[in-house]
Amino acid sequence: MRPIIYDNNTLKLLDQRKLPFKQNYCECTDLEDVVEAIRDMKVRGAPAIGVAAAFGFYFGMKNGLSVDNVYNELFNTRPTAVNLKWALDRMKESFEQHGISYLEKTAMEIFDEDIKTNKKLSDYGASLFKSGDNILTHCNAGALATAGYGTALGVIRSVFDKTKNIHVYVDETRPFFQGSRLTSFELHEEGIEHTVICDNMAGFLMNRGMVDKVIVGADRIACNGDAANKIGTYQLAVLSDYHNIPFYIAAPVSSIDFSLSSGEEIPIEYRDVSEVAYCGDNRIVPDGIDILNPAFDVTPHHLITAFITEKGIFQSEGIKNIQRR
Ligand code: MRU
Repeated sequence: MRPIIYDNNTLKLLDQRKLPFKQNYCECTDLEDVVEAIRDMKVRGAPAIGVAAAFGFYFGMKNGLSVDNVYNELFNTRPTAVNLKWALDRMKESFEQHGISYLEKTAMEIFDEDIKTNKKLSDYGASLFKSGDNILTHCNAGALATAGYGTALGVIRSVFDKTKNIHVYVDETRPFFQGSRLTSFELHEEGIEHTVICDNMAGFLMNRGMVDKVIVGADRIACNGDAANKIGTYQLAVLSDYHNIPFYIAAPVSSIDFSLSSGEEIPIEYRDVSEVAYCGDNRIVPDGIDILNPAFDVTPHHLITAFITEKGIFQSEGIKNIQRR
């Protein structure tokens, strides 16, 4: 699966709003195209947003815009995933050191490294799972959320490659349905046995002993190990703790925000309430009703069994000592 393709000054993004029914690529050739693609969730998932932003930065600079202008336009698209800032900082540094001629290469490096990073962390993560495991995941932390392969779903891929014998429960992940639309699509393509469930069914399954392990991705991890991920992750961690089920986070080091001491400081994106009010084209909430749509929540570090990164497997106390490069 190739969720992001860069070719001849064009960034092609597999439009995630249309999947699984249509596989359309949207083409971005300037800064505004990329800003719109991130804001409208044509591209989504923390690492994928970072990769797209790197190419957006290149397009903006190539068209003669100022660094601050380009940086801020991209930075303001989605506030929670820190990979966006990480990629923009790296592009800005490249520009300051080498000028414009090196920017395309730096964006390509960010793209290529992401795939390598995912494979590496997935290999580490696979050691925590065994043949026959029933694994629950939330949202989509797969190839579609990255430059390719995936983080939480990368680990699942890796376990499947080794054992050929796992089963995955996929939370549908209201309101954008990253689970039922995207994760299920990826697992189906790979031939990995899975079952889609509504977000409110996890407790029932855990109570019946049907879940052995939970693994999810992250959008931003604070130094103490508190981790922001798709809304609904926190309740899964609480349920896992209650049922004594290991709860893992798989994420690249670029998802760690070393400037934040705890998860309280992580900005949470609130998205348009129409995402909750409508299911596809059908309105499902009466007119005039108050609706909330926080897109992420923060899981406190004490509920996280371990963090799986490309630098190895860590407990929350180890996060602040991980070296970035
Ligand atoms: O709103 P989204 O779809 O961008 O949210 C994505 C998630 O929460 C993912 O779990 C996270 O970015 C990790 S993706 C490897």
